[in-house]
Amino acid sequence: MDRRPVGVFDSGVGGLTVFKELEANLPHESLLYLGDTARVPYGTRSPDTVVRYSVEAAHFFRSHDVKMVVVACNTASSVALPELEREAGVPVLGVIEPGARQAVNRTRSGKIGVIGTRATVRSSAYTRAIHAVNPDLEVLARPCPLFVPLAEEGWTDNQVAKETAEIYLRPLLDAGVDTLVLGCTHYPLLKDVIGEVAGDGVALVDSAEAVSVAVREQLTTTKKLLASRDDAVPRHRFFVTDAPEPFHDAAKRFLGRSLDHLELVEIAGE
Ligand code: DGL
Repeated sequence: MDRRPVGVFDSGVGGLTVFKELEANLPHESLLYLGDTARVPYGTRSPDTVVRYSVEAAHFFRSHDVKMVVVACNTASSVALPELEREAGVPVLGVIEPGARQAVNRTRSGKIGVIGTRATVRSSAYTRAIHAVNPDLEVLARPCPLFVPLAEEGWTDNQVAKETAEIYLRPLLDAGVDTLVLGCTHYPLLKDVIGEVAGDGVALVDSAEAVSVAVREQLTTTKKLLASRDDAVPRHRFFVTDAPEPFHDAAKRFLGRSLDHLELVEIAGE
């Protein structure tokens, strides 16, 4: 039994979709969330910059004695996982592999669509992870950058969201994908509108949900790090690198509740 918290890393507020899944799947675990809100978005930046930011985040987690780090951010998972693993000093789990595995299990037509930030799509991380399981599958990837501000604005079910989804997804749907990986922290918030546009014949893979199942597996079986059921109520703490108020407001929308412990930290130069 291990009472140390699980670290959750994201570029900003979007990783709360992963936090929510982790909380639901691991009700006895304390979670320590870091949102690099001073430097969000990561999805428009170069791999070198995302690696540099991620290394600083890894040092932050190292100094906060977490037992593992979940990289909620698809962009950081795509381009900086080896560096995060090297620097964190504890097991690190990204969202790409669990999402890719689930997509491989779901597809029947052999054609998988992947949507994410520009940096995630440019990295081809999902394509590589899918092909590592089954090289015969066809993967079509497309960046959908406008989904991020739509989700943060709470425009998740209006006409603008619907038309944006229609324009982004049409080429993938016309190409015959039967499975679509929501490869960005924010996209689960648009699941309804994406599902409506994609139609019943397309399975949506929520990488937030996929990673939470993988974390549970890793904590129970491989690592024996699970917190005991008899432990006190888990304590969740949130850290951000820019003014906490906007994060707090967004968190209320993402989680439907206020946060007890929210703190401003400096990680640049860590
Ligand atoms: N967290 C990012 C991701 O999942 C989206 C927001 C950003 O670009 O930083 O890729």
